[in-house]
Amino acid sequence: MLKHGVNRERVLALLEEEGGVSEESVRKVSRETGVPEADIWGAGLFYTLINRPGKRVRVCDGLTCQMAGADELTDRLRAEGKECERVSCLGQCDRAPATLDESMALVTYEGRKRGVTPDDPELPMNLAGAVDRSYSALEKARALGPDGTLDEIAASGLQGRGGAGFPAHVKWRGVRSQAETERYVVCNADEGEPGTFKDREVLLRQPHEVLEGLAVAAATVEAGDIYIYIRGEFTDERRALDRAIEESREALSAFRLHVVTGHGAYICGEEMALLESLEGKRGMPRLKPPFPTESGFRGKPTLMHNVETAACVPAIVRRGGAWFHALGREEPGTKLYCISGDVQTPGVYELPLGVTLDELVDAAGGYEGTPVAFSPGGASSGFLPIDRRDVPLDYKSLAEQGSMLGSAGVVVLNDKVDIAQAVAWQLEFFERESCGQCAPCRIGTRYLRRQVDGYMSSGDPSSLRLADDVGWEMEEGSICGLGMVAAKPLESARQHFPEAFKPRERS
Ligand SMILES: Cc1cc2nc3c(=O)[nH]c(=O)nc-3n(C[C@H](O)[C@H](O)[C@H](O)COP(=O)(O)O)c2cc1C
Ligand code: SF4
Repeated sequence: MLKHGVNRERVLALLEEEGGVSEESVRKVSRETGVPEADIWGAGLFYTLINRPGKRVRVCDGLTCQMAGADELTDRLRAEGKECERVSCLGQCDRAPATLDESMALVTYEGRKRGVTPDDPELPMNLAGAVDRSYSALEKARALGPDGTLDEIAASGLQGRGGAGFPAHVKWRGVRSQAETERYVVCNADEGEPGTFKDREVLLRQPHEVLEGLAVAAATVEAGDIYIYIRGEFTDERRALDRAIEESREALSAFRLHVVTGHGAYICGEEMALLESLEGKRGMPRLKPPFPTESGFRGKPTLMHNVETAACVPAIVRRGGAWFHALGREEPGTKLYCISGDVQTPGVYELPLGVTLDELVDAAGGYEGTPVAFSPGGASSGFLPIDRRDVPLDYKSLAEQGSMLGSAGVVVLNDKVDIAQAVAWQLEFFERESCGQCAPCRIGTRYLRRQVDGYMSSGDPSSLRLADDVGWEMEEGSICGLGMVAAKPLESARQHFPEAFKPRERS
């Protein structure tokens, strides 16, 4: 075995090259890598793009796509003789119902309007603006040195945009303070939370900002290797990234850049699962601590950031931490909000962190129909009633509401949507995407989904009598964030919309 088990790291990519798992492909990959066949089966079967690689149409099962008629679309495609598979969120909620064709290319069936913030050079990411290939922020970071750069990142107040909102500078300092000098920077581009499609737009429109942000981070924490783990279904985004890497070869010559494609598992967005996957294994979250800053990729100090977090860095370095900080309201900076569901122009809008739902929906052309509920930050954030439309969409304010900003994948539901049905769709997502290693999550996600299905078909609310206890077990007994929050859609909907769970006619 080569140093670090790098042979092992090739297992998943080799299986994909071989067209998926089969007796023949596993034997071949085992011969080539020295990894036992049983291990290769175990890893390969975990990932949908390796386990079920065939050519078929993939229809998105995410909340927004379900609301937009994914079931009817699937029936129509099947009636046309197409082989269809329903898959977890494709990250295309602004094109709902989203579909990939047999070659994984995006198909747009409905001619819906989609939006993005208009060009404004005062915005850090300015998605619709000109592309800057100067790499002047990297140059400036080198002039400032690691301590000077860290001071700017700290002054900016930048919080990780992957969901948890953890202060970026603390992680940077954490990696820098390690005695181990073999260090890594990893970019999490595995976006897959239902309702979320912001990283997709950054990769397509401003990939140089991502690369430059990662390079500034690597220079600061003194890492030589940068890994970008990009979800397998992001084929256009991968092309945009590859092009940008090609264009920046000279500017980034001090770093070794590696792009690794994901293989179809939502859980690999969780940082520890992502690291396992990078190492060629099943994407099952590791227990924390130790945190990646101490023991991450290959057991070495690793700085992991979301695409959007990385893309904020160049503007912070160029214009100063204080400038970025002042752009937000109670919390610092701008934020890429994804908005979809019952609004006029779904899309990605860069706005001050802490705008309200009404302000965000204004940017998206207004509500469609009469809004009753919204999910502020992806499936994990549950549902809030529309009377919370004035709550700032930031980390602290939403936590105070028992919800979370998470990935800022905001979905609006109008009075045409059956809230219990919306809950069932979210629960199905978690059940499908649980990695299965801890019992409360593996069993709890299935149990809750079945109870809600039972209620939907019988109309009898007593089906849900154990839901709170099961939700508590999941929150307390799960290893990672998926299991901890998977009961949230049901719990929040029962709290805020009790009328949606009253006795009803059998369906
Ligand atoms: C179930 C689950 C899924 C996640 N998916 C993503 C994801 O798709 N992209 C992402 O950047 N972070 C995701 N995260 C958060 C990561 O674990 C990690 O906190 C993040 O990548 C760190 O980057 P940041 O500091 O820039 O936010 C997920 C977390 C959990 C618990
Ligand atoms: S909580 Fe769920 S997804 Fe997370 S490690 Fe446990 S079984 Fe896997």
